[in-house]
Amino acid sequence: MLGPFYRENPPVLPKGASTIQKHYDNEETAYYEGYIRDAAGNGIAGVTLDVWEDAPNGIYENLDPDQPEYNLRGRFETDENGHYSFVAVRPVPYPIPDTETAGELLRYMGHHPYRPGHMHFIISKDGYRQLISQIYDGDSKWLDDDSVFAVKDSLIGTFKPAPETLGTDLHFEFDFVLKADAAAQAVAAE
Ligand SMILES: [Fe+2]
Repeated sequence: MLGPFYRENPPVLPKGASTIQKHYDNEETAYYEGYIRDAAGNGIAGVTLDVWEDAPNGIYENLDPDQPEYNLRGRFETDENGHYSFVAVRPVPYPIPDTETAGELLRYMGHHPYRPGHMHFIISKDGYRQLISQIYDGDSKWLDDDSVFAVKDSLIGTFKPAPETLGTDLHFEFDFVLKADAAAQAVAAE
């Protein structure tokens, strides 16, 4: 699920860099890392990852005039081993806009508008099917009760206390598998 808050062309950042442009009293910084692998388990080099999330005030940068442009958004690339890393914050739960049709539907269902804390990813590489996904904080409120019903067990991760060497409050490790693009496979087979 892409969601409504993605922005094209986020800042291109070096591996391990931070997307944080503004600090909040309640923020928890986190070092995110993992591998992007193919179906055989091999790391894929040169994979592009677009990441975005809400700020510790529960608002995405493009809806908040008090945040710098592209705050908490970035584009990263995997290294020769298929490894990615970046620094951001722990995402917090937020209510989806509930003043229009979606809100009317939620109220009709007797459901609250909140989403559990999640980080958005778009993971792209020629020859593979693009993966648009969200990774959920396993300790977040609303995990079992997401207003848009998008949580899957396989997308839940854990924020652990970070070792001092990382320089962040938390550490989040998550690996992804990309499926080969069927069209690219067909060409390769010719
Ligand atoms: Fe979101």
